[in-house]
Amino acid sequence: MARTRRPLIAGNWKMNGLTSDALALAKDVAAGVSQAGWTDRELLVCPPATLVMAVAGAAKGSGLLVGGQNCHAKANGAHTGDISAEMLKDAGASHVIVGHSERRSDCGETDAIVRAKAQAAWRAGLMPIVCIGETLAEREGGKTLAVLETQLKGSVPAGSMAAKLVVAYEPVWAIGTGKTPTVDEVAAAHAHIRKVLGSLMSDASGVRLLYGGSVKGSNAAELLAAGDVDGALVGGASLNAAEFLAIAKAV
Ligand code: PGA
Repeated sequence: MARTRRPLIAGNWKMNGLTSDALALAKDVAAGVSQAGWTDRELLVCPPATLVMAVAGAAKGSGLLVGGQNCHAKANGAHTGDISAEMLKDAGASHVIVGHSERRSDCGETDAIVRAKAQAAWRAGLMPIVCIGETLAEREGGKTLAVLETQLKGSVPAGSMAAKLVVAYEPVWAIGTGKTPTVDEVAAAHAHIRKVLGSLMSDASGVRLLYGGSVKGSNAAELLAAGDVDGALVGGASLNAAEFLAIAKAV
């Protein structure tokens, strides 16, 4: 069955990579993307901020997209150590991840902060990838769908359009653990996310919804085939070019 939404396979390198190994990885992924010549799917890597410009240079002309992992809500100013969406754009990024659970927990990012960051991405001409997901306690307490709804309503800015928004569903307990929800659980979460988005915007049917959390080459085909899954946000497995490309091939 043909997909109506173009799948996006996004790699989140997190706080990994020094110039030499990161450039080697970027070049290998870019070569794979260039060789495959995909027009029916998009591949994106999000290196640490220090490497965005170099990775964008290495990806140039290959079709591989480059993004940031976070941005500040403001365009500039007295915010020591922070990086704005405009700076990421200037370095060659087209996307930015906002509200990753590690930033929500490590840096106390609230839904309101995440929403402001998504708006900052728009201001700079970047595509925000808004992350949401429940903790293990919330899942075990039967609160998954309610948590996703609260996070979406708080994090997705008013005025969202499908062409300017990607949402990533990442159960916190599945990130970096090797554990994943069942295909039915993923499909149920994504169906609920799309329904809630329908109450927030007029073209929710066009928004790409990524699944993230322990995606690897061997489980990608199954997870990517789940209902309403339009791609993946990949952490650990994105640090290996062959593994990351295998996930993209599984679309
Ligand atoms: P993981 O991370 O693939 O290593 O589980 C996913 C993420 O945090 O985006």
